Amino acid sequence: MTIHQSAQGGSQPSSAGEPAQDTGIEVEPVAGHIGAEVTGADLTVPLDDTAVTQIRAALLRFKVLFFRDQHLDHAAHVAFSRHFGEPVVRPRRGSSAPPEFAEIETAANRLGGTRFGLDHGEWLERRRYSLLRGWHCDHGSRIDPPALTVLRAGTVPPYGGDTTWANLVAAYSGLSEPLRGFVDGLRAEHRLGVGYLPNPIDDEYARHLLEHQIATVHPLVRVHPETGERVLFVNGYYLQRIQGLSRAESSRIVELLLEQATRPEYTVRFRWDPGAVAIWDNRAAIHLAPDDVNHLGFRRIMHRVMITGDVPVGVDGSPSQPITWPQPW
Ligand code: SIN
Repeated sequence: MTIHQSAQGGSQPSSAGEPAQDTGIEVEPVAGHIGAEVTGADLTVPLDDTAVTQIRAALLRFKVLFFRDQHLDHAAHVAFSRHFGEPVVRPRRGSSAPPEFAEIETAANRLGGTRFGLDHGEWLERRRYSLLRGWHCDHGSRIDPPALTVLRAGTVPPYGGDTTWANLVAAYSGLSEPLRGFVDGLRAEHRLGVGYLPNPIDDEYARHLLEHQIATVHPLVRVHPETGERVLFVNGYYLQRIQGLSRAESSRIVELLLEQATRPEYTVRFRWDPGAVAIWDNRAAIHLAPDDVNHLGFRRIMHRVMITGDVPVGVDGSPSQPITWPQPW
């Protein structure tokens, strides 16, 4: 594997000290802190162990990897994802998901909310009442959020519809040393539906969220289980409040940390085309789905497989604690 580095660094073989077996895989960073495009891998066929190891190493380093021209079908999507762990299988996957592939979830724009009797536009507006609240890791209010997500383009609009990711390790490192020390010891409540509503409201979707409530106390800074890096474990869609702070303190510090996490220098934006696949580390990155094509009437259909994750652990070694239990998928 070759990783194309900065101008100073030139191109390098994979990890330091490791004899690089030439799998033909090339990794080209596409932004300063996050994201790399991978070429030389054919995801439509089974990968050998060396290729999987190289892709995993690149993923841990760059947090999100992009592959183009892959044109996976559902079976190949699941098979590729299985190289990285056990796929999550949810009993409720919505009517768009392929019934014969329990590991795949399908998100079709213009449909969100309609299953709860809501107009799609209204649902979107309530869901993203502020920009920061749209950012999320997948299923972040669970005690065990997925480790990875593999998203593939089904139908893409002719323009627009990009997804953006932010690197939470870089965001943590970019905080001042006193602030890092402050957040290291804190814990926060993450709850389903926090990013849906600015105010209490009674609609079918809000009732669904309450009836299926999933909530967890996570460390505000988690230690990545594979890299040991400290991750500023914030996202606007699930994080409700920081424990031990007053309501006013919590809301201002949450806003400050969300702004930090989503500063443009920590982000990368990906233009989808047919055949494109993205895989990201859901433990170290948050993402923002696009909201710029619905008003144009374009279809955008995406398929995802999530890989089972573990319980986050804080800097003090203590794991997350459930608020609601059990937490069915
Ligand atoms: C997501 O928000 O989980 C999916 C991202 C996308 O559709 O771009």
